[in-house]
Amino acid sequence: MTDQPVFAAIDLGSTKVCAVLGQAIDDDRFEIVGIGSASTQNGIRNGTIVDVQQTVAAIRKAVEVASRKASCPVSRVVVGFAGGEIDGQDQRVMIALKDREVMPSDIDRILQEARTMMGCAPSELLHTIPKSYRIDEQGGILNPVGMVGARLEALVHVIRGSDMVLANLKRSVERAGLRVREGDFILQPLASARAVLTEDDKELGVCVVDIGGGTTTMVLYLNGALSGVRIIPLGGAAMTKDLAAVMRISQSDAERIKKEVFSAPGQIPLPEASEEEGASFPTPQSEEIPPGSVRRTQIREVVEARLEEILTRVKGELDRLRQNAFLARGVVLVGGVARMPNIVPFAEKIFGMPISVGQTGDRVQGLVDQAVSPEYASAIGLLYYAREQWGPEDLPYRDSAASQETFDPGQKALPASGLRIWNWLREII
Ligand SMILES: Nc1ncnc2c1ncn2[C@@H]1O[C@H](COP(=O)(O)OP(=O)(O)OP(=O)(O)O)[C@@H](O)[C@H]1O
Ligand SMILES: [Mg+2]
Repeated sequence: MTDQPVFAAIDLGSTKVCAVLGQAIDDDRFEIVGIGSASTQNGIRNGTIVDVQQTVAAIRKAVEVASRKASCPVSRVVVGFAGGEIDGQDQRVMIALKDREVMPSDIDRILQEARTMMGCAPSELLHTIPKSYRIDEQGGILNPVGMVGARLEALVHVIRGSDMVLANLKRSVERAGLRVREGDFILQPLASARAVLTEDDKELGVCVVDIGGGTTTMVLYLNGALSGVRIIPLGGAAMTKDLAAVMRISQSDAERIKKEVFSAPGQIPLPEASEEEGASFPTPQSEEIPPGSVRRTQIREVVEARLEEILTRVKGELDRLRQNAFLARGVVLVGGVARMPNIVPFAEKIFGMPISVGQTGDRVQGLVDQAVSPEYASAIGLLYYAREQWGPEDLPYRDSAASQETFDPGQKALPASGLRIWNWLREII
């Protein structure tokens, strides 16, 4: 598929930044041609940048790996993030039609009006999402363009973020040699939902919960429309921290042990002594705790106590958002924590509704080993946003004949003119 343009996205998480490059196969599927990730543990905390240099270095590294795998330059990217305060509100907008046809420009006017009513600066604006339209007495219209009436009404969900958080994100991405435009910052839960939900799920009612390292984000869909978004600044890193405190070991040891204890059978080879549920888990050397004195059941208790806290908070937010509305498709879990083998029955007890782990399924092909894991759902979903928003001038192509060292972000970042030359060269070669 070297003749197809390549869309590029970076998902800025609190554990890792993931760069993903994909070519659209059709309306709903992507071929993943490049994927790379790098740790952001020192650069991003709870979704917010705490060290620009570390974040820039991680972005460069992830993009370089993905770019090299794809033999494709990367210039513009869409960026997934989940930091700072966000505010989402429904706005009701009405315009007069006077018995003429609805034009695309009317929709633009409606969205603009909704943004104005929300009263936020352009630098804070994240998403303006039409939920449904009404023309005169007929409600529940999904796309009114071409219909006739006297009056067009719309219910629009406007989401705004913190301009300081967004400014730092923009700065870091640009310092990594990449370009972003207005509208390229996408709230992670929306991207995760795009990767794992069907239109049917949204119609029947569903909540996607992305439990990452430093944040838990959620997005609710009712009757086919977005109904609310929430960010809770808590995730798997808190479980690791608890474990490190209880076992009196470093956080990196605690993280490794946590993943070993909570790995699906065959996922990570367990140390011999820990195969049995009640057996001692071999702890790293520690002055306070002799090796082998912490049991797997204790580790489970510590981690699951925090998981319970996170899921209970999510349930509280969900109950406030859904206001007794029935979610036939229940809760779909993604993010690294959704890898815990027992998370489905655990969450079922808390939510009392169907729980599943989100799958990108056959939406992705190509380099899928990594891409199908639940912690990559938001990175994959970002590609759909890039495809919706980018024009032909933003699109690089793969060079089938290129060497494996085509791009070094930061040093050889291609500006728009460089990108044009690249595209022009590959056309004439
Ligand atoms: N098998 C596992 N059991 C328990 N936790 C796991 C497992 N695998 C990964 N995790 C946890 O998932 C978290 C990372 O998830 P993810 O990669 O989705 O985070 P992120 O996207 O970088 O961060 P965020 O979305 O919060 O900004 C880490 O806390 C990690 O310990
Ligand atoms: Mg994430």
